[in-house]
Amino acid sequence: MSGYRIAIVGATGLVGQTLLEVLHEYRVPVSELVPLAREGQGRTVRYGDDEIPVEALEEMDWRRVDVAFFAAGNDVSATYVPEAVRHGVTVIDKSSRWRMDPEIPLVVPQVNRDAIKDAPLIASPNCSTIQLVVALAPIYRQWGLKRVIVSTYQSVSGTGREAVVELEEEVRARVDGRPYEVQVYPVPILHNVLAHCDAFGELDYTGEEWKLMRETAKILATPIRLSATAVRVPVYVGHAESVYLETERPWSLEEVRQLLAQSPAVRVVDDPRAGTVPTPLDAAGQDDVLVGRIRQDPFEPTGLHLFVVADNLRRGAATNALDIMMAVSDRWELGGQHR
Ligand SMILES: NC(=O)c1ccc[n+]([C@@H]2O[C@H](COP(=O)([O-])OP(=O)(O)OC[C@H]3O[C@@H](n4cnc5c(N)ncnc54)[C@H](OP(=O)(O)O)[C@@H]3O)[C@@H](O)[C@H]2O)c1
Repeated sequence: MSGYRIAIVGATGLVGQTLLEVLHEYRVPVSELVPLAREGQGRTVRYGDDEIPVEALEEMDWRRVDVAFFAAGNDVSATYVPEAVRHGVTVIDKSSRWRMDPEIPLVVPQVNRDAIKDAPLIASPNCSTIQLVVALAPIYRQWGLKRVIVSTYQSVSGTGREAVVELEEEVRARVDGRPYEVQVYPVPILHNVLAHCDAFGELDYTGEEWKLMRETAKILATPIRLSATAVRVPVYVGHAESVYLETERPWSLEEVRQLLAQSPAVRVVDDPRAGTVPTPLDAAGQDDVLVGRIRQDPFEPTGLHLFVVADNLRRGAATNALDIMMAVSDRWELGGQHR
C-alpha cells in the first residue's frame, strides 16, 4: 500500500476544504482521494496542484477507501456513517451526531488518544471544545478542577460556508449603502455580537453551550462543573474563549506557564508588558492553541483566568481529524509520516 485511501464527505465545505489543505501540507501519503458532496455537478476541489472531481455521496462505493472523514452535518452522518462502517471503513466524524453516544469515542488525540482502542467510528468534538480541552487537560491532570466558566467569541466560519458569505455580503452592502436581508443569523452579524450561537435548549443554554459542557466532561472522563456562554462575533476565522477556572490544589503562575508551554498543541502567547495577547488573526492558518492573559484571580487563590484562541477550521476541525487518523494509522500497515 503506497498511501492512504481517503474519502472526504463534505469536501466542498469549509472543513472539507481545510482538510484537503492540511493533508497536502503535512505530506500525508495518499493513494486514493475521493471528494464527496451532494452532487458532483462538474465541480472539482484543489489538492496541492491537482484538481480532483467531486463525486456524489449517494453513489459512493465504500470499498474504494480505508478511511472516511465526514464533514457534512448530522443528517448526512446519520445516514451514511453506518454504511461506510459496514464496509470496513474507519470513519472520523466531524458532525455532532455520534459524539455523546457512550459507545463512540470522542477524541482529541493530545488529551485522550487511548479512548480510541479499535473503534471503527471515532467522533471529533465541536471546534470550541477542542481548543478548550487542549488547554484545560494539563491543568486538570496537574491540579484538579473544581469549577470552570467559559465565554466564547466564535467566528462565523464555525457556522459554515453560508455564514462566511453572509458576513462578506453584509460588509459589501454596508460599503455600497444598500440594505441587506439576513439569511443565516437571526439578526445582522456585522458590527454586532450574538449571545446565542444556535437554538436555545435545556435551562435556556444553547446547543453550542451544551456541546462545550458535555463534550468536555466526556473527553476528560470526569463530571466537570463547567458552564458556558457561547457568543458569535463578526470574525471570519478563529474562535476565542475567556476561561475562568478554580483548581483543587494550589499552583504558582510560573508553574502554570511552564506546564502550558510544555503541553502538546499549546503555544503560550502572553506578554502583558509588551501588549502581547492571542488573537484570531494570529491563530488563523496555523495549528497551535494560543493561550494568553494568564493571570490569577484577585479574590480566589486557586482561581485562574486564561484567554484561549485557535483556528476553528484547522485545530478545531481538520487538524484534529487528521491527528485522529494518524493515531490509528497502524491499522493500514503504513507508517505515519505526519509531522
Ligand atoms: N466550521 C467549523 O468550524 C466546524 C468545526 C467543527 C465541526 N464542524 C462540523 O463539520 C461539518 C461541516 O461543516 P462546514 O463548516 O464545513 O459546513 P459547510 O461549509 O456548510 O459545508 C457543508 C458540506 O457538506 C456537504 N453536504 C451538505 N449536505 C449534503 C448531503 N446531503 N450530501 C452530501 N454532502 C452534503 C456540502 O456539499 P455541497 O457543496 O454539495 O452542498 C458541503 O461540502 C458540520 O457537521 C459541522 O458541524 C464544523
